[in-house]
Amino acid sequence: MHITPIHPGFVGEVSAIDISLKLLPDQVAAIESAMDRYAVLVFPDQPLTDEQQCDYSRNFGELEATLIGQMSKPGERRLGPVEMGDISNLDPSGRLRARDDNRRMYSLGNRLWHSDASFRATGAGYSLLSARIVPGYGGNTEFADMRAAYDALDIATKTLVEDLVTEHSIAFSRGELGFSDYGEGNADKVRPVRHRLVRTHPVTGRKSLYLSAHIGAIVGWPVPEGRAFIRDLTEHATQPQFTHAHRWHVGDLVMWDNRTTMHRVRRYRDLDEVRDLRRTSIKGTEMTAEQVPAMAAA
Ligand SMILES: [Fe+2]
Repeated sequence: MHITPIHPGFVGEVSAIDISLKLLPDQVAAIESAMDRYAVLVFPDQPLTDEQQCDYSRNFGELEATLIGQMSKPGERRLGPVEMGDISNLDPSGRLRARDDNRRMYSLGNRLWHSDASFRATGAGYSLLSARIVPGYGGNTEFADMRAAYDALDIATKTLVEDLVTEHSIAFSRGELGFSDYGEGNADKVRPVRHRLVRTHPVTGRKSLYLSAHIGAIVGWPVPEGRAFIRDLTEHATQPQFTHAHRWHVGDLVMWDNRTTMHRVRRYRDLDEVRDLRRTSIKGTEMTAEQVPAMAAA
């Protein structure tokens, strides 16, 4: 396995490995160690079936069911297992989704900078995205390095954020775009959870900002002050020097660590062109903050 750094601070491109095959423990360890260093790894030219993607992903932990999969009714899903995230603009019959399609409107939330599943008490560990069909225009995924963003804060801000706890909910990020129709019986899935704003990496000891569009409040702060501050931090953390844009090619597999990065998709002509990516995510293993009892169920 060979890794070429493609940004001064993070993101490595991996070659000389076939991830469709069963990996040896030392290969898995080498990828995990590269993730600790690079936070985002790009594996070009690795066409995978859904089954191969799930098998590869399971090297890094237990797969997480997607929220949209959990909120969908039977027959509303295009792909099989609930762990296979359908990051496409296609409906279950393979047609492009209409402009006012509920699922399309929900997915537009991915255009905001976020960390996957930060609306869950344990968040997500790695996410892995495999490109099956890519559009001719747009649709890049951008990544931001939350370790470098933390390092660049001034001392006063580092002191201020050190012990802050935030509240995350899918309702905050979707509400930002004016979307609130989650379907009947899903109210419990949008209840906020709590996370520390500053995380410390368990292996490297490096600190990072745990930011996400899902944040709607800072515990103990008036809501508008909390949201304004989170906006400031997000603006700081997504400056060009901390970000990298990945331009997709069919067969790319990109994996990232949600504990140390944020990401967002850029606009593409989703009403005219197909974009079909498949996502798997690894369940987070630790709560970063204590939950209040009413939130624990989420
Ligand atoms: Fe995402």
